[in-house]
This record gives sequence, C-alpha cells and structure tokens, in this order.
Amino acid sequence: MPSVVILISGRGSNLQALIDHATETSEYQIRAVISNRPKAAGLDLARAAGIETAVLDHTLFDSREAFDAELAQLVDGFQANWVVLAGFMRVLTAGFVNRYLGRLINIHPSLLPAFPGLKTHQQAIEAGVRLHGATVHFVTPELDHGPIVDQAAVQVLPDDTAETLAARVLQLEHRLFPRALAGLCAGRLNWTEASGSLRVNGALDAPLLIDISNKGH
Ligand code: GAR
Repeated sequence: MPSVVILISGRGSNLQALIDHATETSEYQIRAVISNRPKAAGLDLARAAGIETAVLDHTLFDSREAFDAELAQLVDGFQANWVVLAGFMRVLTAGFVNRYLGRLINIHPSLLPAFPGLKTHQQAIEAGVRLHGATVHFVTPELDHGPIVDQAAVQVLPDDTAETLAARVLQLEHRLFPRALAGLCAGRLNWTEASGSLRVNGALDAPLLIDISNKGH
C-alpha cells in the first residue's frame, strides 16, 4: 500500500479527512504526522488514530536551511512514498522541495494560480471573484506555483466574509484532498517533466467539484 508522511502546523482538519479516508478505503497508509509546532491540535488527532507523531520546533533552529535539513532527515526515516503538506505553514527551501520533487503535494485555499500566499479568502472577496476554492498541487520551489493536481470550487455569495467563505472552502478541501492523494497513490495521475515545464498527466474521475448548492450560512 502506498505510504505517506503528513506535515502540519495547526488545527489538522485536513489531516483528519486524510485519516478518515485511509481508514475507510486503505488506499494509502499514513506512516507519520510531523508538526513544526509542538501544540498543533492536529497532533492529538493523529495520536487518537494511533499514528506516530513527531515534532520539529522551527523556533529552535537558526536558519531555514538548518530546519529543513533536519526535517528531511526525519521525513526520510519514515520511508514514505508521498510527503503531504496539510496546513503546513512554512516556506520550504528549494533544497527540501527538490529532494521530494514529484512526490510532495500541498493543499492551498484558493483556485491557483489566483491568490497565492496568505489571506486567500479575503483576497478573493476583495477581487470580486464569483468562484473561489481550493487546489491540490505538486510543490515546486516557487511558492504556490506547482502543477495542479485537482481543484474544487465554491460560489462566492454577496454577503460572504472571509470567515464564511473559508468555512465553505474548508468543507470542500476535506473532500478534495483525500481524493487527489488517492488518485496519485493509485497512479491515476502522474507527474512528468516535459520540455522544461512540469505537467500533470491523466485525470481523476471528475476533475472539478463545484458546490453551488449552499446558498445560506
Ligand atoms: C487549510 O485551509 C489549508 O488549505 C491551508 O491551511 C488550512 C489548514 O487547516 N493551507 C495553507 O494556507 C497553505 N499555504 P487545517 O489545519 O484544519 O487542515
């Protein structure tokens, strides 16, 4: 069974969705959950599911390079096929990213390439977009710019705030992320480097989830 290591920084709701999917389908096995924050709530979710956890506190490191080198040692120790960022709120060095290129994925709360970075829901409201959502993508050295694996969209409602929009997007993230990871693990999608650009080949059963049914809050 394909194996994964999941990196988190906080709440861990996407982690929980990934755990639930693994339990229900056995499409992948979660070897370990690593947090850069000792008090991340997601660590308790992993422990409750009987998954090994590790903490690497970034505040104890002098440089990004030193932290990432230690993180790579830790990740490598679990010998997993995939490295999954589920709310891991640190910029990774090119050295780390390139070590796992093609088997390192992230979920980002926007329809990339729109709204990379932080405060994506506020950015979406300010831009006046009608659709917003989430993206699972391969991680490359350029932040939030890797090849897109799959996306899910929600309608932006006239009275949405960043909070109400975030809540609806998060619900979709929980459906999108396990589905994308399972598709990768099963080889339904694969990644190649073609003529200097990175592309995702293949397609999941339904490439886009659009939830426009939720008219209220
Ligand atoms: C999620 O919305 C995820 O998309 C986002 O952080 C949240 C983590 O929530 N990730 C990023 O913004 C990465 N740049 P969770 O801990 O409940 O899964």
